[in-house]
Amino acid sequence: MSAGVAPNAVAAVSEGRLWQRLMEMGEIGGFEFEGGHKGVNRPCLSALDRTARRLLISWAEKMGASVTIDPAGNLFLRLEGEDPSLPAVLTGSHMDSQPQGGRFDGIYGVLAGLEAIEAIATAGIRPKRAIEVVAWTNEEGGRYAPGCTGSMSFTGFKPMSEFDDLVDRDGIRYADALAEQMEAESDLAKRPLGYAPHAYLEAHIEQGPRLEVERKEIGVVTGIQGSRWFTVTVEGRSDHAGTTPLALRRDAVQDMVRAIGALNQLMHDPDDVLRFTVASIKVEPDTSNSVANKAVFTIDFRHPDKAVLLARGDAIAGVVQAAMRSCTATVHERFHALPVDFAETATGAVAAAAQAQGLSSLALPSGAFHDAQFLVPVCPTGMIFIPCRGGVSHHPSEHAEPVACANGARVLAQALLSLANS
Ligand code: GLV
Ligand code: MN
Ligand code: MN
Repeated sequence: MSAGVAPNAVAAVSEGRLWQRLMEMGEIGGFEFEGGHKGVNRPCLSALDRTARRLLISWAEKMGASVTIDPAGNLFLRLEGEDPSLPAVLTGSHMDSQPQGGRFDGIYGVLAGLEAIEAIATAGIRPKRAIEVVAWTNEEGGRYAPGCTGSMSFTGFKPMSEFDDLVDRDGIRYADALAEQMEAESDLAKRPLGYAPHAYLEAHIEQGPRLEVERKEIGVVTGIQGSRWFTVTVEGRSDHAGTTPLALRRDAVQDMVRAIGALNQLMHDPDDVLRFTVASIKVEPDTSNSVANKAVFTIDFRHPDKAVLLARGDAIAGVVQAAMRSCTATVHERFHALPVDFAETATGAVAAAAQAQGLSSLALPSGAFHDAQFLVPVCPTGMIFIPCRGGVSHHPSEHAEPVACANGARVLAQALLSLANS
């Protein structure tokens, strides 16, 4: 990279444009929430998702980026490089949200990527390699669990067909929702699934409190902890709540409660590093005066240490079985992602850009998973975090300051350029 190149691109990053786009995107699926907050509910592969993607495409085309889509529905915006035959540098994140999500999770990384390539183009810079901005399909897993199906398909972590039979709450298959989206976007140029990028960088709000508490402007992410997701199905028998003696019941809710209690003991961690969450429970027949014949609950278990992730995760099924008094249980693992460490090539580019711009930074791991996790095996990968208010995320009150958003985009622009010229 020649002297002066990055500062021009950095100067061309527009805080106002980025903020305005974030707010405009926040209207698509936006809803009013208590306390005057504005949340977003934009499920993947939905009409809202497509509206948001069309808006993104309109901005990208206006700045001269070319637009393509792969068979997994991942959307790419490309700023051409001097040598189109070289592997591109990739950046991006996701545009889908949690059902009660905020205006920054995911979409920030896509819009920061667009802002970065727009700034580079505005500064009249043509990097050696192309830079591509990607909007990954279904990162959140809010409509179709697990999440990260677009990036897992892209890198070959899982074959695309693995996700075909996932169903949403309305019984719509993933394959059908994807086909509908591909049909609606059939005017876009197609590209094959996957390639090995020269490097991948993802910008994201931190979703935790450390940057704010430690008053740092940029997080240089060192890696991502591992995650395992399970679905537990407890089956008993429905009976009359007023007449059936307790000893004769096969009450699925009671055995589920015993199982969750036992799992809390298995997952006990005095250091508070381990993360264990039961957050979705479905009961049948779901009526207050009938004993439940079926209870289904989810487990989200995370740990940065692979050995702990494997040992305690592998113990879940046995603990659940041992907790059953009168029902039967099945435990299905639906997501398994080991902890990853990011490459110095990528983390170094982020740290160097923050330093060159006089921004304070902190090296930290990510507790949330991200599409970046699945890029690690295929190319040098890193992430940039920006502070978010109170560390709150997956909630309508999620907020990042305009200046923080712009700081992240400036660091991204400079780090992308240095990687694209290497
Ligand atoms: C991603 O949204 C996660 O749950 O970490
Ligand atoms: Mn996210
Ligand atoms: Mn999220």
